[in-house]
Amino acid sequence: MSKYLRFSVLFLLVISVLSCSEIKKPPSSYQWPIIEGFPKPQVPANNPMSLAKVTLGKQLFYDVNLSANQTQACASCHIQEHAFAEPLPTSIGSTGHKHRRNSPALVNIAYNKTLTWAHDGLTSIEQQLLLPMFSENPVELGITNHEATVLARFNTAQYKALFQQAFPEHNGQHITYDLITKALASFVRSLISLQSPFDQYAYYNKDEAISASALRGMTLFFSEKLECHHCHGGFNFTQSTSHEKQLIDRRPFHNTGLYQTLDKVTGHLGYPSDDIGLAEISTITADNGRFRAPTLRNIAVSAPYMHDGSIATLAQVLDFYAAGGRHITSGEHQGDGRLNSLKSPFIKGFSMSEQDKIDLISFLHTLTDEAFLTNPEHAKP
Ligand code: HEC
Ligand code: HEC
Repeated sequence: MSKYLRFSVLFLLVISVLSCSEIKKPPSSYQWPIIEGFPKPQVPANNPMSLAKVTLGKQLFYDVNLSANQTQACASCHIQEHAFAEPLPTSIGSTGHKHRRNSPALVNIAYNKTLTWAHDGLTSIEQQLLLPMFSENPVELGITNHEATVLARFNTAQYKALFQQAFPEHNGQHITYDLITKALASFVRSLISLQSPFDQYAYYNKDEAISASALRGMTLFFSEKLECHHCHGGFNFTQSTSHEKQLIDRRPFHNTGLYQTLDKVTGHLGYPSDDIGLAEISTITADNGRFRAPTLRNIAVSAPYMHDGSIATLAQVLDFYAAGGRHITSGEHQGDGRLNSLKSPFIKGFSMSEQDKIDLISFLHTLTDEAFLTNPEHAKP
């Protein structure tokens, strides 16, 4: 493996890490499981990390008592062996409501600049978690109108002790949704994955960690021909990264040409009206079909893909990019996404041999972090 390639790949990855001045933070005793020299994630001043909070958060994450009808936990839709994503194309809530979106992997969320598939204003995990807990459309855990009943279930000796350890300053007072959210957010932040074969290769200098085929795939991934790294760049394989050393502000939402559907009501061409991406939040027409470029870490275990789980395999994802968008020839979403006028100029299509495809898939598999997927610290208590 040429030292030059390693250098250029590392340069691309680390360029976002090494920026400008450091923001001063109060010291925290929590040890982030990150590679030496990596920037630490930013944590809200009113919810510093602690092991006790992570432990409590894990207990809550796996507890079906957090849903009103006691059938669903966070972990029902965020499953460890799938990198905390799930194999369904779109999620189903505790009362059977069908969600319009695919459950995203919870991988290095502590570094996410924004949360959910398409929201440029949702930047705090604590805020975001109110959605699965209290949302009524769609219902996920369905706590709304059952607030007191759900809360009372945590009034047990075991939980009281866990809350006391996590929030000693709270002095054994009543358990609140504020404390529950803080603990859950701390657990979500603790889900750090940086031990994949790719990391062994790139950061621990282990040439043998990845195959020759995967190396060729890596070169393609970082090439100007395929452009993948423009949107899935940096150490977290997503542009949507924020950490203590990063000051540059970017708007990492893109239309990748998945759809070009005729809306029968408005007569507009674009993404299906039940999910138009960022445009729903920004109300800017040009944001139609823009979604966040997600991290590709552990991507091999988090199928199906895209915001609506509409692509089943990595091979099909690659065919989609090679074609420069998706042409749907029949059914309710019929239309040629390749011709979507709001599509990112980086999605221009490319030629790909069968060998290139095998190589790219091997490379994407080097982002699978077995230690993360089986780590008992993240598993059901
Ligand atoms: C019914 C299935 C379901 C349940 C239950 C659920 N989630 Fe999710 N989660 C989703 C879906 C779907 C999304 C994507 C939402 C969107 O983009 O609008 C999501 C998004 C997220 C995100 C944002 C991830 C990112 O990359 O931006 C986090 C964090 C999260 N969930 C954590 C949790 C926690 C913690 C719980 C328990 C309190 C929970 N979820 C319960 C399905 C679920
Ligand atoms: C213009 C920016 C851009 C480029 C270039 C790009 N992607 Fe993406 N990628 C995205 C966005 C945005 C999504 C989510 C789209 C959606 O759900 O509507 C995505 C989704 C994906 C997914 C599915 C992720 C998941 O969790 O479901 C994979 C895999 C992927 N891209 C791989 C690649 C590869 C490989 C390349 C290069 C051939 C590439 N991408 C090039 C922006 C980009």
